[in-house]
Amino acid sequence: KQAPPVTLVIFGATGDLTRRLLVPAIINLTRSGLVGNSLSILGIGIEEGDDESLRRRLDEFLIHLTPGVEEETEKDEAWDSVRSRIFYLSGDFTQDNIFDNIAARLGADENAAFYLAVPPAFFGPIVEKLADHGLMRETETRFRRVAIEKPFGTDLASAQALNARILERVAEAQVYRLDHFLGKETVQNLMTARFANMMIEALWNNNYIDHVQITAAEVVDVGSRGKFYDATGALRDMVPNHLFQLLAMIAMEPPNSFDAEAIRNEKSKVLKALRIYTEEEAKLYAVRGTYGAGTLNGVNVPAYQDTKDIKPASRTETFVALKLLVDTWRWAGVPFYLRTGKAMTARDTEIVITFRKVPFAQFRETEVTRKLPPNRLVIQVQPDEGMSMEISIKSPGPMVDIEPVSLDFRYADKFDIGKTTGYESLIYDLFIGDQTLFQRADGIEAGWAAVQPFLDAWSKDPTAPEKYDPGSMGPAGADSLIERDGRRWHKIGFRLTNR
Ligand code: BG6
Repeated sequence: KQAPPVTLVIFGATGDLTRRLLVPAIINLTRSGLVGNSLSILGIGIEEGDDESLRRRLDEFLIHLTPGVEEETEKDEAWDSVRSRIFYLSGDFTQDNIFDNIAARLGADENAAFYLAVPPAFFGPIVEKLADHGLMRETETRFRRVAIEKPFGTDLASAQALNARILERVAEAQVYRLDHFLGKETVQNLMTARFANMMIEALWNNNYIDHVQITAAEVVDVGSRGKFYDATGALRDMVPNHLFQLLAMIAMEPPNSFDAEAIRNEKSKVLKALRIYTEEEAKLYAVRGTYGAGTLNGVNVPAYQDTKDIKPASRTETFVALKLLVDTWRWAGVPFYLRTGKAMTARDTEIVITFRKVPFAQFRETEVTRKLPPNRLVIQVQPDEGMSMEISIKSPGPMVDIEPVSLDFRYADKFDIGKTTGYESLIYDLFIGDQTLFQRADGIEAGWAAVQPFLDAWSKDPTAPEKYDPGSMGPAGADSLIERDGRRWHKIGFRLTNR
């Protein structure tokens, strides 16, 4: 179904996000017919310029849409058609002037979605000015929505303050807080995998599940993002947002409909059930790491502290591993182990559900049966999206020998996924007014509440994060965190390299 007519007003139109993700996503939506020629884009930026200069800037970038691909990407009708509906207004969005200009450009009956692709310090002020200039007022004939990028706050108090500031002027139903992980196909599939499959959901509780691991490993180092990263760190950057979205999808109760509010209620409920640790527990259940100097895929990587814009005495973590508990009937006693970091072995985001061992192994004891591995469900979020179910079978021959095998499903084998930015669903939903894939105020705050004890404990802890080598899976402490419980981290890339 084609999205209704709308003007997408992008604050930060000359920035990276606009050309790398937003415009390419709109081109893809246009190509697939989900967005028609009643869409227009009004870019706002501080730089001088006009419609044509923004269009040309995008032209240049779109040639290199795929990083590393030098030849011209096909310039098709979709881009030509979107291009002619791109407009630009130059102005300072801390001043009223630009908001008057936007108001003058938008018709009284025009639908508009304001997209804040700007540094977080501007989120509150822009929403205030939009509201004060009457731009957020909805009528029978027009909708007005605002999409806000991450990071939404830097701790619990700032997230609460930002929500309060926004919700004082704008209704929750108009606010679309983005978490781009929710745009990923495999993340959206988590609910289908659970709620459309009896053989999965029936076992989805502490009677059958031993523990859950969520890993988001990245090969990239901090590189040129030092300024942002040093003030942020791995915990704030990845955990209360991206990893908690995955955790919520895994741990939520079945919603009673696929309605956005029904789903967001369940997700918020489970995030609110995350155990809030004392500072003592927070120290025990978290491991911080920072990469040292080394080589990664043959390239020299400077130590984190030697990276541009990083303070030499920085104690910011580039890796974090956590053990979390979800205090609900379904999950009591099932730890959730999370880890994420930069400059690691491979780019790999995956969720591993490890089931309990069979209660009684009646097989003759051999080397193999003694090591009878538990069943595992590995959900590969990216790259090489797919799922594997690890089960045990009898290996052929007169002896009862047991062998673990893996039943694999890869998206790429079954579907022609094509090239997407991961923003298509999010932008389409913004246009049609479906908030399912966006975060609600209470969910965001519940996430920050659960990580706040770690932030508090670390701010008082003078010791530096543990060092790890670039290209490794984090510091030794991360292994001890899970081994203490008699468990081990899943070997990442295992599924990828064994096919
Ligand atoms: C961003 C973080 O939100 O997510 C980055 O700020 C991180 O540090 C990125 O690299 C990961 O996203 P993806 O889609 O590449 O896995």
